[in-house]
Amino acid sequence: MDLTRELKRHVTRVERGLDLLLPAEATRPSRLHTAMRYSLQAGGKRLRPVLLIATAELMGANGDDALPAAIAIECVHTYSLIHDDLPCMDDDDLRRGRPTVHKAFDEATAVLAGDALLTHAFALLATSYVGNPALAVALTRELADAAGSRRLVGGQMEDLLAEGKADATPAELEFIHLNKTAAMIEASLVMGGLVGRADDTQVANLRQIGRHLGLAFQIVDDILDVTGDSATLGKTAGKDAAAGKTTYVTLHGLERARRLAREHTDTALGTVQSFSGQTDFLRTLIETMVARSG
Ligand code: IPE
Ligand code: IPE
Ligand code: MG
Ligand code: MG
Ligand code: MG
Repeated sequence: MDLTRELKRHVTRVERGLDLLLPAEATRPSRLHTAMRYSLQAGGKRLRPVLLIATAELMGANGDDALPAAIAIECVHTYSLIHDDLPCMDDDDLRRGRPTVHKAFDEATAVLAGDALLTHAFALLATSYVGNPALAVALTRELADAAGSRRLVGGQMEDLLAEGKADATPAELEFIHLNKTAAMIEASLVMGGLVGRADDTQVANLRQIGRHLGLAFQIVDDILDVTGDSATLGKTAGKDAAAGKTTYVTLHGLERARRLAREHTDTALGTVQSFSGQTDFLRTLIETMVARSG
């Protein structure tokens, strides 16, 4: 299996889907739709939509049937980044190698572009899967749970509450990472499984993969904030220390953080083994996520 080619096939499909399934820039109000596309089309690794489509294909579905769900999850992810970068949250000027939305436009436009992307995700699910109402409901429920106050938004809340907190515990930090990051990675795999008609056991296994890949992914994000450079990351390095964030590096040190990321990756890879079929791409993708430098 040629990872680079397979990844390119998936990413090309996602980029095309984004262009097709988002309102045109010229749609009134043009400033808002331009801001939505500005952040979405800046690039990014597209991990979540690629995971979703790859999982659907692993389950025997046609990747095109998974595309609207994949775009929906990228919309929610991108909204979370736009808001995460706002001055009242992480206050970041650089994202995906470009000025953040509130820098390129203004704060109000960034808030509204995030709101609109979040809403658009659910509109996409409702309209694209209308021919299969049971699937539409299952996808909506999964995405709503992952993005909601108990998970992504809840994780973001506790991330902010843990800023400058000297006595944060490993369990508190795990809660933050499981929710601000792993929830959406879990949902990517599960939604791909739902499109591919996964049974309950398969869904549970996909959840398990997502949980551990998600933890590994955010631990590596914490590590790269310390060891990476802004040009490669496409976002400002060293922000976590500057903001007094509680991270795997502050709590466990670099070496143990690396070991924990490896352990969670191995657990995810172990569960991938439970799937018959072509798991090469998924396994290699998981490996590259922990070994990444950007
Ligand atoms: C950034 O996510 C936020 C985290 C959960 C660490 P990504 O690292 O996937 O960002 P993009 O989509 O590639 O820009
Ligand atoms: C972000 O975590 C998780 C989100 C839900 C956006 P971070 O705040 O560490 O993400 P980056 O480092 O800004 O991408
Ligand atoms: Mg943050
Ligand atoms: Mg941030
Ligand atoms: Mg980070």
